[in-house]
Amino acid sequence: MTLAVLSAMEVEMEQYMERCAPEHSTQRAGRTVHEAEWQGHDLILVQTGVGKVNASSCTQLLIDRYDVDAVLCTGSAGALNPALDIGDVVVATDCVQHDVVVDFLGLPRGQIPFTDLRFFETSPSLRRGAAAVTLPEHSIVEGRVLTGDTFVEDAAHRHQLREELDGDCVEMEGAAVGQVCAMNDVPYLVVRAISDHADGTSDVDFGAFMQEAARSSSEIVLSLLSALEAGEALSAPGR
Ligand code: ADE
Repeated sequence: MTLAVLSAMEVEMEQYMERCAPEHSTQRAGRTVHEAEWQGHDLILVQTGVGKVNASSCTQLLIDRYDVDAVLCTGSAGALNPALDIGDVVVATDCVQHDVVVDFLGLPRGQIPFTDLRFFETSPSLRRGAAAVTLPEHSIVEGRVLTGDTFVEDAAHRHQLREELDGDCVEMEGAAVGQVCAMNDVPYLVVRAISDHADGTSDVDFGAFMQEAARSSSEIVLSLLSALEAGEALSAPGR
């Protein structure tokens, strides 16, 4: 099975580079694409850069050129659910773009105009695999991930997003990966460790805890992949 693992930032990708020791690296569309082997799987590791355009263009590139069987997107997130603490992990049930807002058409936040696309459900089998992993000091919960091209660091914004979309955490890539995967009928999963609370303390917390978040999310992804059978059929939503 060929699996793509995407992270926005260097600190996140370093975790995979250290543990998976890539055999081959190529430059594609301004990024370095690393090929590695992990527990019988072919991994394609890429640092996408931050935000939805980086994440979506990279996802399409990997689907087209590497024919990946699934895409995993990992890294940190700001907590929206008050029950989540720094270091806890959210395994996405679905992702939505919180910055898609077209009020004059009467659409709810996240609804992409002239389509029925809003919530991008993750692969149930990948999700189950991630939820079966345990971390010594942190909880792993399934939940909704909100994505937008904004670092959320304001309590009122955080409150509004939680109210309107019932999200558990917020980040900047997951739903973009989800939309591209849905359009190509490729299973995907987003795994995010909490680095901050998406409020006025986020600038400080993000810097202090992103390394820990990178360690937690990569641990879940690599454990999940270790447990995945090489020939296992992955369920995409609707299949
Ligand atoms: N990634 C980590 N923390 C975040 C936040 N508060 N907003 C958006 N993306 C994040």
